[in-house]
Amino acid sequence: MKDQLEKIKQEALKQIEASDALEKLNDIKVAYLGKKGELTSVLKSMKDVTPEDRPKIGQMVNEAREAIEGKLDAAMTALMKKAREEQLKKEVIDVTLPAKRNRVGHTHPNTIALEEVERIFVGMGYEVIEGPEVEYDHYNFEKLNIPKNHPARDEQDTFYISDNIVLRSQTSPVQVRTMEQGKLPIRMLAPGRVFRSDEVDATHSPSFHQIEGLVIDKNITFADLKGTLAEFARELFGPETKVKFRPHHFPFTEPSAEMDVTCFKCGGKGCRFCKGSGWIEILGCGMVHPNVLAMSGIDSNEYSGFAFGVGLERIALLKYEIDDMRLLYENDIRFLKQF
Ligand code: DAH
Repeated sequence: MKDQLEKIKQEALKQIEASDALEKLNDIKVAYLGKKGELTSVLKSMKDVTPEDRPKIGQMVNEAREAIEGKLDAAMTALMKKAREEQLKKEVIDVTLPAKRNRVGHTHPNTIALEEVERIFVGMGYEVIEGPEVEYDHYNFEKLNIPKNHPARDEQDTFYISDNIVLRSQTSPVQVRTMEQGKLPIRMLAPGRVFRSDEVDATHSPSFHQIEGLVIDKNITFADLKGTLAEFARELFGPETKVKFRPHHFPFTEPSAEMDVTCFKCGGKGCRFCKGSGWIEILGCGMVHPNVLAMSGIDSNEYSGFAFGVGLERIALLKYEIDDMRLLYENDIRFLKQF
């Protein structure tokens, strides 16, 4: 029996030593120490041992069990440690590697230009207002003194949703909506998207942006218009900028004008940028037509006003010397990033 025990113990220790996986160690544990394990079966045969020998054999069984258990524990701990070290090695992070670059967006030149224009007019006490892009014909045209069949309708090739609903072809309807609210005086700026059935090219797009301005008060004259817009031009393009008003026609203003600014590239001498003229056209303007005031319920004997309309893209193209409007709509971050 003694020899048998020694043999079992040696055999177990040998197997433990040869094991290179936790599962194998577990199998060994079951095979030797489990309920049906070899040591257990030796214990079971204790009944055949003489009473004098029992304590001795019992002690030997315990020793064998302890030896096997101890060796098993040590082997398991060693294996787990090794596994953990391997895992850590695999998961090592090189903190000196450069981080992945995030591509950050960039404010669009249109937005930069709009914020600049808004800053200038808000500084003069104007309120920024928005109107709907889908608009009634009577706001987009009729109440701006452009009746059905008026030739001015041909100048703006309009998208019709139905007989009396359009995609607004200009931001001027916001003038009407503001005047109709009846709160006077008015100093408003109305930026927004407008639509015209135009082919896309370097200077046209079926959807672009305008900024509308409107001032209504007592005793507003053309001098107010000139002073305001000249100041606007100087703020936007630099203090040396001069302005020039050319007579023009818009149905909703009388008199009407277009305003040119001295070319900020050549200072007015004439260059390729201003096509040799020294001047660049930037907006339409005029004194609000008495018919327009009357249609919005404002007494033109008591009140007068001026209005203007600026193309936002035009300002952005000029200010940032971009020569093709299509670049503004492609949203290529490499392009946008430059401004
Ligand atoms: N609505 C005009 C256009 O789209 C621009 C314009 C001109 C607006 C004169 C005005 C103005 O308010 O007074 O061509």
